Amino acid sequence: MSTSAPEWIPLLVPDMPSPEELLPWLRRMHATHHYSNFGPLVRELEAAFARRFALPQAQLTTVANATQGLELVLQALDLPAGARVLIPAFTFVATATAVLRAGFTPVLADVDAHCWMLTPAIARDACQHMHIDAVLPVATFGMPHGMLEWHQFEKETGLPVVIDAAAAYGSQWLQGAEGTLVFSLHTTKSLPAGEGGLVVSTRPGLAAKVRQLSNFGINLDPAADVPVGALAGVGTNAKMSEYHAAIGLVSLSKWELSAQSRQALQCDLTTALSAAANGRLVWQAQGCDASLMAPTLLCARLPDAQTRATLERLCAEARIMTRRWYQPLLTGMQVLQGRAIELNAHRAIDLGETLLGLPFFPDMALEQRQRIQDVVARACGGQ
Ligand SMILES: Cc1ncc(COP(=O)(O)O)c(C=O)c1O
Repeated sequence: MSTSAPEWIPLLVPDMPSPEELLPWLRRMHATHHYSNFGPLVRELEAAFARRFALPQAQLTTVANATQGLELVLQALDLPAGARVLIPAFTFVATATAVLRAGFTPVLADVDAHCWMLTPAIARDACQHMHIDAVLPVATFGMPHGMLEWHQFEKETGLPVVIDAAAAYGSQWLQGAEGTLVFSLHTTKSLPAGEGGLVVSTRPGLAAKVRQLSNFGINLDPAADVPVGALAGVGTNAKMSEYHAAIGLVSLSKWELSAQSRQALQCDLTTALSAAANGRLVWQAQGCDASLMAPTLLCARLPDAQTRATLERLCAEARIMTRRWYQPLLTGMQVLQGRAIELNAHRAIDLGETLLGLPFFPDMALEQRQRIQDVVARACGGQ
């Protein structure tokens, strides 16, 4: 009797609401005949966010996705032409493309060796070496930044800071400080709406300006200098649809439960894999004054590039999907050569050579967990 190969263990499985859960919201949408353009469901979602952030609704706006949210925030900041925006070299490409598409120059900085993020200390150092106009740190893999520290940096330097908190909904809060945050509500994120984004900002007028730019730049305010219906700026169409808001509202109603189960899964997996690897795996350190509330990924750092390659190979043989997250690094992307300025990023390079994304999704079966544990033990010599 031939034993068939086991099914591949996927890297991620989206945790999206079911059609049954969506139906009441879709019925509501259809009854109003309002499908986009800041309809009732988008406004309800925004009101729910405003309550959670304890901010006036005018200080946040939904957008079609985080990439456009970042672009529009950068545009709304009125930075000087050719402005240099400091970003980490270790991030998803959208952080860099947002800067370029807003007409600015990304400056690629190093990251901290423990939390894998661009920190205020790294930003201060970069500012001493070259002129920087704004800073765009990333809440890497959803790890929140300490906002008091970043606000202190803003006050000290006068530079605007925008946190690319794409993966950090539910983990990244303002923590009583002033600040600007951009979240993604993509299917793979902790609050999935299919596609979507959320901009939160205490900077006066910023969220309203982003909202206007997300609606082509059309003025809708009778008290403004330009007539209602006229362009107040060169915007784009980055509005969230009512369909996406419906998904976001269902996801929000279940967020706490989903976050708890993700935390429990992360705790179980990191404990089991650390033991399997005889303590040779390193995990991302918690950020400052805040913790990761709803992990969406599992990323292990191996002792060296060779062990990473061995683990990758053993995973492929055991039909376990893996991902070299954020590889190649931004510093190695050909399209960015000549368009971005590169600072020394040796810690980001080390990280890129030793990090491996492993499967992480709710309801991972015991057999799947055991299979991952076994290959980690073999790769790291724990057995
Ligand atoms: C760090 C970072 N920034 C931006 C984005 C883009 O988000 P969106 O897909 O909502 O445009 C992502 C998406 O994964 C991300 O990881």
